[in-house]
Amino acid sequence: MDKLIKNGILVLPQGHSKGDILLQGEKIKAVGGGISYDPEGIGYNPLNTEIIDAEGCLVFPGFIDTHTHFQLDNGHFTSPDDFASGSRAAILGGTTAILDFATQNRGETLAQGLANWHAMAKDKANCDYGFHLAISEWNQQISREIKEMAAAGVTSFKVYMAYDNLRLKDSEIFQIMKKVGEIGGILGCHCENGDLISCLTDQLKAKGEMDVRNHPRVRPAQVEAEAVYRYLTIAEMAGVPVNIVHLSSARGLAVVEEARSRGQEVYVETCPQYLLLEDSRYELPPRQAAVYVFSPPLRKPADQQALWQAAAAGQVDTIGTDHCSFNITGQKDQGLHDFTRIPNGIPGVSHRPQLLYTYGVAAGKISLETMARLLSENPAKLFGLYPRKGVLAPGSDADIVIWDPAKTGSIKAETQAHQVDNTPYEDFKVKGAVRAVYLRGRLAVDDKGLTEEGKGCYLARGKSLLFRQK
Ligand code: URP
Ligand code: ZN
Ligand code: ZN
Repeated sequence: MDKLIKNGILVLPQGHSKGDILLQGEKIKAVGGGISYDPEGIGYNPLNTEIIDAEGCLVFPGFIDTHTHFQLDNGHFTSPDDFASGSRAAILGGTTAILDFATQNRGETLAQGLANWHAMAKDKANCDYGFHLAISEWNQQISREIKEMAAAGVTSFKVYMAYDNLRLKDSEIFQIMKKVGEIGGILGCHCENGDLISCLTDQLKAKGEMDVRNHPRVRPAQVEAEAVYRYLTIAEMAGVPVNIVHLSSARGLAVVEEARSRGQEVYVETCPQYLLLEDSRYELPPRQAAVYVFSPPLRKPADQQALWQAAAAGQVDTIGTDHCSFNITGQKDQGLHDFTRIPNGIPGVSHRPQLLYTYGVAAGKISLETMARLLSENPAKLFGLYPRKGVLAPGSDADIVIWDPAKTGSIKAETQAHQVDNTPYEDFKVKGAVRAVYLRGRLAVDDKGLTEEGKGCYLARGKSLLFRQK
């Protein structure tokens, strides 16, 4: 049966207005201001069409979170949200596609890294999914694999400038950038100066200052800004556009803007935590403060303000969650006396749309169109999924979120869909919520929750659509 979603406010790239959307099979067949009976043309056939009334609701393209870490094994702990629970939490919140970071551990080929992540996701995902590949070792053989990864649908890669088991040399990052540029992909980077972090950590250790409050002290904004500057300098020399993931600071942003003013093509992701939370959280009692141990750490109110302004002004391109959930009990609490042993990361994949709607759109900081750009359109473009995803348009996948702006609630660890015992947004009031979600034309979420398990598909992606290019 076809489906006709009627009378909603459609959030389209050119603006929002009341209209209808006709779904046929997995695709959107028509989008317009009042689709009528016309079985021969683009209209609908009432004998074969389910009518869905979206009066009073917003209708968004399915949201895409291009920064998750499901079932992440950090060498000591595995994050409890796997591809089943993580993608369930995602789609319940309106996210119909995620990109997770498959990682090539040292000693592995890229193909092995990718195969490991495919095995974790297979038959489990409740939303569509794809993979970036994080590269932790670089040599001639791995260089040759970049093309094979593109053929396997992986066109985005990540390098780390921090974490001793992952970080690469600047010369290696330079070579990776060039190779990724050759396949029309994009290289993202975790920009923190790992060498300085180790030095600052050793200094504190020598003084016995190892409680949770020290986590942000070893990762100040300078450590991010320096790494951003170095990464962008390497990109300028390689002559390729690049992406910066989870940008957290006004200082880092200023470095990006300086590079852009010289004509460099730089894409930037930030995350809800850097827009909504500040570093005073580290002064909470240790068990509570440990919730906020992730990297880069939380910053100052002035950083939040700068990032909101940048999001509104189009200087930030995407908002991902960096979802990497760990429990307090049995995981984060193992490092209360040594912050370096606290597994880094927070849950968030379910809450991103509600947080952006409440504290962005409803608060007057960003428009509906900007929200759709940051959460759907730009991620789809940058990561080779557009216009299959990211937009309400004829021919696109029928990934649709019917959003009720009148619903209110508050976020609680106890009631969240994430499979962990904490949330950094505990007691945050939220406005707006999912009424229904369609995944490639099938009703995936209704008022009772997820309708069926395991319907997510692997997304083989194409070249990046570099929308900043002049
Ligand atoms: O603390 C974080 N962000 N953990 C996940 C890994 C990463 O750096 O993105
Ligand atoms: Zn990172
Ligand atoms: Zn991450």
